Amino acid sequence: MSSNKELNFDDFKKMASDKSLSASEKIGFPDSYRKGFSTKILNDINLKLPIYNTTNKVIVDIGCGCDELTFELIEVCKKNNHTLILIDSEEMIQDLPSSDKIIKLAGKFPFNDDRLNKYVGQVDYILCYSVIFYVFANDNLYDFIHQSVNLLKANGHLLIGDIPNIDKRDRFLDSEEGKQFLKNSNQVKGSTAHENRDQKMDDSIVLAIVTRLRRFGCEAYVMPQSADLPMANRREDILVIRR
Ligand SMILES: C[S@@+](CC[C@H](N)C(=O)[O-])C[C@H]1O[C@@H](n2cnc3c(N)ncnc32)[C@H](O)[C@@H]1O
Repeated sequence: MSSNKELNFDDFKKMASDKSLSASEKIGFPDSYRKGFSTKILNDINLKLPIYNTTNKVIVDIGCGCDELTFELIEVCKKNNHTLILIDSEEMIQDLPSSDKIIKLAGKFPFNDDRLNKYVGQVDYILCYSVIFYVFANDNLYDFIHQSVNLLKANGHLLIGDIPNIDKRDRFLDSEEGKQFLKNSNQVKGSTAHENRDQKMDDSIVLAIVTRLRRFGCEAYVMPQSADLPMANRREDILVIRR
């Protein structure tokens, strides 16, 4: 894995197989980014994809990973009788639980087989959290998004969550609040580097996704993350609702 290339699906596979890594490290985060935050993250997700107060929904998690957040989502889905389809590499999902309603599908999305065909137009909620940035850097962004939207039923929701937007980050770091934040070097580790700008998502990409989806029969909105999330000052979400 080269230092100036963003992680790709195969890098994540290798990390998932590395027994020396913690669950957070397997999904590319230092422990401090996620530890203890999964309930807060799920509460924020629930504002956009209402999973807590609904039952019997069909939910797909694309790029589900194997960290605390995924295990907590599985528990919510079991409790609320949702069907949950977990998609990621075999290496990443092998230790996740499964049942008749917690279905693991190993592979890189979009699949080049028919395993998802029966879900086309059938899905209530799709979660794609902390994933799109890697798709943008390595794969076909619009194919990934269109194939996701194809799975949704009318009024189904897709949350493209936790998008690191370099313009949002710069606006924050230029603000008084950001300058204070910068004084605490522990908090900003890795967050101020400007290398590889061409590989980063920025306002132009985030807003292009919104514009594009609105042209394809969807409502789409850029939404902030709750302020108590660890990366809320430099990440945001896109909520897509299929008409
Ligand atoms: C940063 S992790 C996020 C994991 C999880 N969504 C979370 O927030 O805890 C990114 C994950 O996306 C997966 N991934 C990346 N591209 C993918 C693709 N095209 N299809 C399926 N999974 C993908 C990686 O294997 C990795 O597990």
